[in-house]
Order: sequence, then C-alpha cells, then structure tokens
Amino acid sequence: MRLLTTLPLLVLVLRAAETRKSARSGRGRAHSRANAVKRYVADCKGYVEYGAKFLDCQEHRLTAVLLGWPEDIDHLLLAQNKIQVLQDNTFSHFRKLQSLDLQQNEISLIEEGAFNGLSKLTILLLQHNRLQVATEAMLIPMVRLSHLRLHDNPWRCSCQLDSLVRFLQVPSNRHMGNFAKCAEPTHLWGQHLKQLDATLLCSPEFQPVALPSRPPGIQKHLDATLLCHTYVFPKPLLECKSRGLKTIPADIPASIVKMDLSFNNITHLRPKEFVAVKDLKLLNLSSNGLERIDTDAFAGLLYLRELDLSNNNLRYFSYGVLEDLYYLRILSLGGNPWICDYNIHYLIYWLKHHPAVDYTGLVCSEPHEFQGWPVENYVKTYNAECPKDKQVGSQTDTAQPGLTSQELIAETEEVPDLLPNPLRDRRRKKFEIIRLN
Ligand SMILES: *[C@@H]1O[C@H](CO)[C@@H](O)[C@H](O)[C@H]1NC(C)=O
Ligand SMILES: *[C@@H]1O[C@H](CO)[C@@H](O)[C@H](O)[C@H]1NC(C)=O
Repeated sequence: MRLLTTLPLLVLVLRAAETRKSARSGRGRAHSRANAVKRYVADCKGYVEYGAKFLDCQEHRLTAVLLGWPEDIDHLLLAQNKIQVLQDNTFSHFRKLQSLDLQQNEISLIEEGAFNGLSKLTILLLQHNRLQVATEAMLIPMVRLSHLRLHDNPWRCSCQLDSLVRFLQVPSNRHMGNFAKCAEPTHLWGQHLKQLDATLLCSPEFQPVALPSRPPGIQKHLDATLLCHTYVFPKPLLECKSRGLKTIPADIPASIVKMDLSFNNITHLRPKEFVAVKDLKLLNLSSNGLERIDTDAFAGLLYLRELDLSNNNLRYFSYGVLEDLYYLRILSLGGNPWICDYNIHYLIYWLKHHPAVDYTGLVCSEPHEFQGWPVENYVKTYNAECPKDKQVGSQTDTAQPGLTSQELIAETEEVPDLLPNPLRDRRRKKFEIIRLN
C-alpha cells in the first residue's frame, strides 16, 4: 500500500525536476500550465502541479534552508546547493512535506533532530553528499519514509553506523539505502550497507583505518557507484569523467540512461561490458585513447541513441561491432586516425544500411594518398576502380551481365566470411555470386 502511494510521488518529483529544466531554458514556460510561478527568498520558484505544491531551490548555492519560504509545500527541491550541515529542526516548519531532495550538496553532518516534524515525508534523497556517519535516530521522526537514497557518500563502516545499517537491512525497508557502500575501512571498502555483516561493525578487533586516496586493487573493476557520480535528476546519469579509469567500472546501476566516461584511459572495450545497462541511451567514450573494440562490446545496447567515440585512437571497426545498435541515431567519430583500407568497409557498409544514423568525423588519416578524404569517398573510389582491373575477364565468364562492380562488392560484403583481403578473395566472391544466382 505504501509502495503504491509513493511511486506516483517519485514520478511527480522527477517530473518537477524536468519542468524546471525546460522552464529555465525558456521553452517550457508556455506549456507548463497556467500556474503562476511565485518567487521567494533566494529566488526559489514555487508552483503547483497536480494539486501538489513544489518549492524549487535547486542550484542556488544555498548553504542553509532560509526563513521566509512557504510552509505548506509538499515537495522541496534543494539539490545541487552547498549545504554542509543539517541542524536540528531545520525542516520542522514544513509539516506537509512529502519529498525532500537534498542530493548533490556537501552535507557531512546531520544532527539527530534535523528531520523533526516531517511525519508525512515519504521520499528523502541524500545521495552525492559527504556523509560518513549517520544513525537510525535521525530517521525516526519520518514515520512514513519509504524511499531513502544514500549512495555516493563516503560511508565509514564503523560501530557508529551500526544502527543505520541494521535499519536498512530490515526487509520492509527495501527501497532504502540501496547502492550505498562503505568507503572506509579498507577491508570493508566497496561493500553494500544493505549486505554488510552488521556484527562486524562493532566487533572489538575493528580498527578504523583512513581511506587511502586510491584503495588497493583499484585498477580492476572499479565500482561505479563509489567512483562516479550517479545523478537521478533529470535523467539517471552516471558521470564518470576524468577519473583515470582504465576499464569500464563494475556495478553500474541498471537504471542509468546516460553515461559519461569521457577523458579516461579506457583503451580496450571488451565483450559485453554494457549488458547490464540495457536502458542506456547515451554513451560518451570520447577522449580515452580507445584503440580496440571487441565485436560484442556493445552487446545489449538496443536503445542506445547516441555514441560518442570522438578523439580516440580508432583505426577501423571489427566486423559486427555495431550490430546491436538498432536505434543508434548519432555517432561521433571525429579525431580518430581512420585507416582507409579494406578494414574500414564494414563501417561504411553498416552506415549505408542505417541511413538514420547521423555520423561525423569519418576522415582518412592513412594511407597518405587518401589522407583528409571522407572515408565514404575512399570506399566509392575503391568500388569504382579496384574491381575494374580484374573485371575484364570476369565479364565473360559470369552469368551476371547487369551487375555493376559496386553491386558486386555490395553483394559480396553481405557475406561476412568473405570480407578480408579483396584481392585474395576475388575468385571466391565470383564463385559465391554465381552460386546465389
Ligand atoms: C592515461 O595514461 C597515460 C599513460 O599510460 C598517462 O600519461 C595519462 O596521464 C593517463 N590519463 C589519464 C586521464 O589518466
Ligand atoms: C562527451 O564528452 C565530451 C568531453 O567531456 C564532450 O565535449 C562531448 O560533448 C560529450 N558528448 C556528448 C554526446 O555528450
């Protein structure tokens, strides 16, 4: 029952953040219904949607909750501010409050009575802050709380966290604290608060150890929720830019829709690294020194719409790399040293068969004679010229008088096994076509 009432609320809160974005960009104002947008202290916006009152104070560099805000609001949006401490009774005026969004602040301390008075609150978002410790006591005033987000905080898994961990592990609290992980001590690093053996926390041999700036073994299987920022608003986004990553991080939350992995050092994409993120629509791998993409690397990304591979070290795509990307619309390929030889044909062939894909940056860097040419032009020349020398004899002995050289190539390219080295395979190709005929 509780779940049924909170889910629409979550949707509403998400919608609120979207509305804000479009309103700010000036477009949404007209269609965001006729409700007057009221302005309050610190230039927050108040508005009503589906009968619920919102106060939107996101991205205002606030360091505290200010006096003078309306008290009868249902949803308070305070994401992306600079709040560091939540003092006792900070929200006690907002007795109707159902959701409170405090994500992406700098909160490192929550006093035990900070949420006093919030007896109607069902959603509390505290992810992407600097919390190391918190106790169950702070949650007690919120008797209706059903959704609590705590991930991407540097939790110190010590005895002080014991009551919170035990609370999160109660089965009925299944929407609370998911993905939150220990950052300290080292031997518990990366463990989910939800799954931690709570008896360890207060055991006598427990030794608090400061988190080293780079935990041991960090090169392999980095944990996305610890290393990267996951944002829920306005779309689930994993921001993992410039983290010095050498591999795709492990444990990417399945709900992620956009993923920014630009400016890392991921030089090789291995098979099936993204299968868990089925909803991904945008993948940014720009500026990684990427050299190699295995054939199944993009397996499962059926809904990917935009792929940014710009500014890497790619020379061609292996056959089949793009096969799963049915809905791809934008493909950025600039800033790569594409080599215009036979290996590049797969890419051009795939693009020809996916005309909806808007691609950029496909320019030959080698060999010298084609340097600076659009790759399509190179392939056209290849198709127009290359077969001619060998075509002389073939016209007499094939049963394909109507077939031009381009069509010949196109036909044979449909048969993947025949792709490499056109010269060596010329005879087999002819043979293949005759057979098809
Ligand atoms: C990537 O690796 C190279 C050497 O392997 C290093 O010089 C460079 O700083 C690294 N870049 C990042 C963003 O970590
Ligand atoms: C990918 O990241 C780079 C660098 O951070 C940025 O310039 C580019 O616009 C991003 N691409 C997309 C499609 O968002």
